[in-house]
Amino acid sequence: MKPYEKLLLENKAWAREMVEEDPDYFNRLAHLQTPEFLWIGCSDSRVPANEITGTEPGEIFVHRNIANLVIHTDVNLLSVLDYAVNHLKVNHVIVCGHYGCGGIKAAMGRHDYNQVLNMWLRNIKDVYRLYQQELDSIPDEEARADKLVELNVKEQVLKLAKTSIIQRAWKTRNAPLLHGWVYGLKDGIIKSLFDMPPGSEINPIYAYDDL
Ligand code: CO
Repeated sequence: MKPYEKLLLENKAWAREMVEEDPDYFNRLAHLQTPEFLWIGCSDSRVPANEITGTEPGEIFVHRNIANLVIHTDVNLLSVLDYAVNHLKVNHVIVCGHYGCGGIKAAMGRHDYNQVLNMWLRNIKDVYRLYQQELDSIPDEEARADKLVELNVKEQVLKLAKTSIIQRAWKTRNAPLLHGWVYGLKDGIIKSLFDMPPGSEINPIYAYDDL
């Protein structure tokens, strides 16, 4: 059996199992998508949103990219954010980074990854520059990478709050709450780092005053 064929086989077994447990399972899901959460996580295969939070299909709307970045010109991310916030009306947006993130480590090095990856990692290098003094004072490389993982999550949450999508939702429906989390690959535990409730103060440079 080819590796990908195993996936299709496992899928059939899973679908059968779900229906055995609850004959109405797929019927119900097909007609209902009212997730409470938007998850912005890393593409890393070891950080699957549903599994690590014990949630079922239908509970989390998910966007993943390398190093869980929120980039204000990323049409993909902004479409997901707009749809989740304005149509699904999620009440929580979670940015979840993870220790040992390859994207973060790559951005800390000086290797040329050629064009596109350089462009992507550049956003993380910019976060490093913002906190350079604090980061450079950590002698241990792994500890420094872990710190950048945390600071990167915080910075992405701040970037969410800079969007008119979030600012307008805060004004019109006093939601969503923004969360910055970090997942530990070594122990499976998610640490809550940084929250921004609706109405949190935003640097006036980025605050719209005529929403
Ligand atoms: Co990662």
